[in-house]
Amino acid sequence: MKKTILALDVYDFQKAEKLVKETSPYIDVYKVGPILFLQSGKEIIKMIKDNGKEVFLDLKFHDIPATVKRSVESAKDLGVFSLTVHSIGGEEMLEAASSVENRPKIWAVTVLTSQITTPEEVVRRAKLTKACGIDGVISSPLEISLIKNECGKKFNVVTPGIRPAKANDDQKRVATPEMAIKEGADFIVVGRPILEAENPAEAAKNIYESVLIQ
Ligand code: C5P
Repeated sequence: MKKTILALDVYDFQKAEKLVKETSPYIDVYKVGPILFLQSGKEIIKMIKDNGKEVFLDLKFHDIPATVKRSVESAKDLGVFSLTVHSIGGEEMLEAASSVENRPKIWAVTVLTSQITTPEEVVRRAKLTKACGIDGVISSPLEISLIKNECGKKFNVVTPGIRPAKANDDQKRVATPEMAIKEGADFIVVGRPILEAENPAEAAKNIYESVLIQ
């Protein structure tokens, strides 16, 4: 599977469809977040799957265990490839989420990057999620190797905050696609460097090629 996940942070079905079609040679998984999901929900998921691609449903579930379990079941019924939960929901919630049979991959947010934390706390949460049967975590580029060392190679690390060398915007803890993959990221999540490029297909191609030669 290709390593770049495109964050479909556009809020218009037609735009999203155009992007999926244009970038499909270089991307296998598209991330759908709450805004697009609340606007076009099932339609957007169907469109991505009809184009032969997979969905990463990034709704960051955090609720009582029974509700999170049912949410995972519903995401499974939609046929998504992966979804997110918050590690802060605790052991019981994480175990309830992972107990769903034949479920999508579950990746946990350790600590939101908008919050102050320490690498030790991120690793502590990553280990907790692993012990609860969760498949991996969303991690800043800075913590990839630490998490891989502590949780093992098979534990997925999915990394946003990716910027090709020349980008300049609000993401502070960034890495280039090459650096993140070299550190051990299983997937990189890229939004604006592709979405805001003059030619999104070309930007996706450049990122695809830059991680191919790793
Ligand atoms: O546009 P950009 O490449 O920064 O997009 C990154 C995507 O990853 C966005 O959808 C953003 O919400 C998401 N994300 C992030 N940092 C996290 C978790 C998710 O940037 N810690």
